[in-house]
Amino acid sequence: MSTSQGYGLLKGKKGLIFGALDDRSIAWRVALACKREGAEFVLTNAPVALRLGSLNALSEETGAPVIPCDVSKDEEVQDLMEKVKAHQGGIDFILHAVGMSPNVRKSKPYEGLDYKFYHQTLDISAISLHRVLHFAHETGALHDGASVVALSYIGAQRIFSKYSDMNDAKALLESIARNYGSRLGSRGIRVNTVSQAPTITSAGSGIKGFDGMFTFADKMAPMGNPSADECADYCITLFSDLSRKVTMQNLFHDGGFSTNGISEEMMQDLFDMYQNREDDK
Ligand SMILES: NC(=O)c1ccc[n+]([C@@H]2O[C@H](COP(=O)([O-])OP(=O)(O)OC[C@H]3O[C@@H](n4cnc5c(N)ncnc54)[C@H](O)[C@@H]3O)[C@@H](O)[C@H]2O)c1
Repeated sequence: MSTSQGYGLLKGKKGLIFGALDDRSIAWRVALACKREGAEFVLTNAPVALRLGSLNALSEETGAPVIPCDVSKDEEVQDLMEKVKAHQGGIDFILHAVGMSPNVRKSKPYEGLDYKFYHQTLDISAISLHRVLHFAHETGALHDGASVVALSYIGAQRIFSKYSDMNDAKALLESIARNYGSRLGSRGIRVNTVSQAPTITSAGSGIKGFDGMFTFADKMAPMGNPSADECADYCITLFSDLSRKVTMQNLFHDGGFSTNGISEEMMQDLFDMYQNREDDK
């Protein structure tokens, strides 16, 4: 059977998907893959994103209701969990695909961060995972055996200058996934991060220098950059029962980028650049 027909991997499962803004969003692609695999789910995003994005189209296509929630507000996350519980009885999987840095948006250099913005970056992009897990657990919405996946980036381990304070946010996000994962493991609940390669989306292309990061990763990775749809397929395996004992991990989904030293293609490019410089002298 081909992936396009699905494997029924999420049949009977109920999910909650954060972060679909438009059809390029990784969360959007994950929602379509979840539908293909037989899941039912609720879509959520910040009220402002619901006005600016096109989430209603995804809601129509998948039959999933939309419940607004700003992940930086305790009361909204609590309310979301209560509504999701009332609507579908609980949650078997969560996708956290939320990231935003006002410092990156406003091109503040890392050495001159606006500290109010810095707090917002960490709160929205990382602490929100803690908040989501806290209220999912406290309201009783999170089922035993559930699987939680948050999307991360290799900036958590290695510094990419243009990614600025988002490097810090991803490091915190991955730590929260491990810390909470250790507490929820006795209930069979998995918490993992998927570290995705640069992907052309609203958040991605909002980073100055993104094209350079994208091309660099694509040339360095033996398999090239994976697409948002390929990331979605990987998330499906983590939501499914086929990965029941995988938890507290940061899992690279990057075509081999994180482990490769240098590729033949990159070496040739650097050599050609050096030759051109010598010829221009
Ligand atoms: N695009 C990439 O290159 C890339 C690479 C690795 C990881 N990621 C991560 O993937 C995730 C999804 O990003 P994307 O690339 O699909 O871009 P995207 O812009 O489509 O998604 C980001 C989402 O975060 C939501 N959001 C922002 N502030 C919020 C708030 N206060 N409350 C609720 N939601 C809020 C936005 O509305 C948007 O839907 C992010 O965590 C991002 O850091 C992206």
